[in-house]
Amino acid sequence: MMKFKRSDFPQDFIFGTATSSYQIEGHSFGGAGPTHWDTFAAKPGKILDGTDGAIACDHYNRWQEDLDLIKDAGFDSYRFSTSWARVMPEGRGAVNQEGLDFYERLVDGMLARGIKPMATLYHWEMPAALDALGGWQNADVADWFAEFTDVIAKRLGDRLFSTATINEPWCVSWLSHFEGHHAPGLQDIKATARAMHHVLKAHGKSVQVLRQNGVKDVGIVCNFEGTMPADDSVESARAAARYEAIYNRFFLQGIFEGTYPEEVLEGLGPHLPAGWQDDMALIQQPLEWVGVNYYTAKAFRETDGPWPSCETVRTGADTTHMNWEIHPDHLTKLLKWIADTYTKDLPLYVTENGMAGEHTLNDQDRVSYLNGHVLAAKSAMDAGVPLGGYTFWSLMDNYEWAFGYAERFGLVHVDFDTLERTPKVSYLALRDAMSQ
Ligand code: NOJ
Repeated sequence: MMKFKRSDFPQDFIFGTATSSYQIEGHSFGGAGPTHWDTFAAKPGKILDGTDGAIACDHYNRWQEDLDLIKDAGFDSYRFSTSWARVMPEGRGAVNQEGLDFYERLVDGMLARGIKPMATLYHWEMPAALDALGGWQNADVADWFAEFTDVIAKRLGDRLFSTATINEPWCVSWLSHFEGHHAPGLQDIKATARAMHHVLKAHGKSVQVLRQNGVKDVGIVCNFEGTMPADDSVESARAAARYEAIYNRFFLQGIFEGTYPEEVLEGLGPHLPAGWQDDMALIQQPLEWVGVNYYTAKAFRETDGPWPSCETVRTGADTTHMNWEIHPDHLTKLLKWIADTYTKDLPLYVTENGMAGEHTLNDQDRVSYLNGHVLAAKSAMDAGVPLGGYTFWSLMDNYEWAFGYAERFGLVHVDFDTLERTPKVSYLALRDAMSQ
C-alpha cells in the first residue's frame, strides 16, 4: 500500500514512468547503427555480467504491450528516449526511416491511449561513427546533435508533451570521461572538461533547433545527489562542497547563470576548450522546465589524492540492492535548493526516482522506498516548490548499464529468457494510489 494517493496532489499533477531507448528496445533490431556503448560493452570487464543491449526487453517488437502496461497502471505520462543511432546510423546524414517510423508509432500509440509523451533526445548511446571522431570531446558534437534534433523535431515535434535535450549531463561527461564507468570509459581530465562543456553547448544548440521547429515545453534532465560532509571538519566540508559543485551545480549554473562554479574551475579550468566563455550565451537558452533525477545521497571527506581530492564515507543509512544509500529527506532539500537558487518559478519535474531491489515480484522494499520519496517531494511542494510531476524509474526491469541485467529497477518484472512481463507489487500499489 502506498501512503499517498492522487487526490493529495494538485489536479494537473502528472504521474509518469520512464525508460530509455538502449536499456529496453533491443538495439540489434530495425537497422540501428552501432553505438559507443556497444564498443564499450564488448571490452572485457566493463559490464558486470558481460552483456549489452542487443535484445534488452525486446521493446522494439513489444511496444504495444508495454504501452498497455503504462495505461493500465493509470500513468499520465511516459518518459522515453530516441536513440540517435537508430534514427541516424552514422550519427549524421542518412536517416533510417524504419527507426524514425518506430518512434512515430510509439508516440501515436501513447496519444491513442491518453498517455503524454515526454521525450528525451539523448540518453547515453552515441553513434559509434561520432565517437570515433572524439564524441563529446569534439566541439562539433553540438552541430551533430543539432542535426539529429532537427530530424526528431520535424517528425515528432508537434505531438510531444515535453522534450528534454539531454539526460544527466554529469553521467555523459564526468562518469564517462573522468571515472570511466560508462562509455567511452576514459579517465582523462582534459577529456572530462571538454565533455562537460560540450554537452552543455550541444544542449544549447538543440534548444535553438527545437524552437526553430516550433517545439514547445523544452527542458533538460539533470541528476542530483544529496551531499554532506562526513564529519565536522573544515576539510570534509570542503570536499562535500567540491563534489556538490561538480555534480549538482555545474550544469544548472551554466544554463541559468552563464558561469561555472569556482570549485570546478579550480580543477577543470586549464582543460576547458579555448574560448569556452564565448559559448555561455548559447548555453543560457531559456527553458520551460527542468527535470530532476534523484536516487541517493553521500557523505564526503577530503583525501591527499589529486583534485577533486574527495571520497565517500558510508553514513550507516539503509541501502538498496546496488548499495546506494536511501535518503528521502535529501530530495526535499534538493528540490527547494534548485528552485531557490536557479529555477525560481519554473516548473520542476521529478523525471526519475526508483531503486534497484530484491529480485522478487513482492517488492515491498521498492514500495517503501517510493513512499518515502514521493512524500519527500510532497513536502517540498508544501514549502512552495512548483513541482509539476513525478516519474518513476523504471516501467520494467531493463539493461542497467555497467551492471547489465544484474540490477533491477522495474515496477514490472521481466524474465530475460522468455521476455515475459509481470507486474510487481509496486506496480499494483501505484495503480491503486493513482486511482484514488
Ligand atoms: C539514471 C539513468 O538515467 C538511468 O538510465 C539509469 O538506469 C538509472 N539512473 C538507474 O541507475
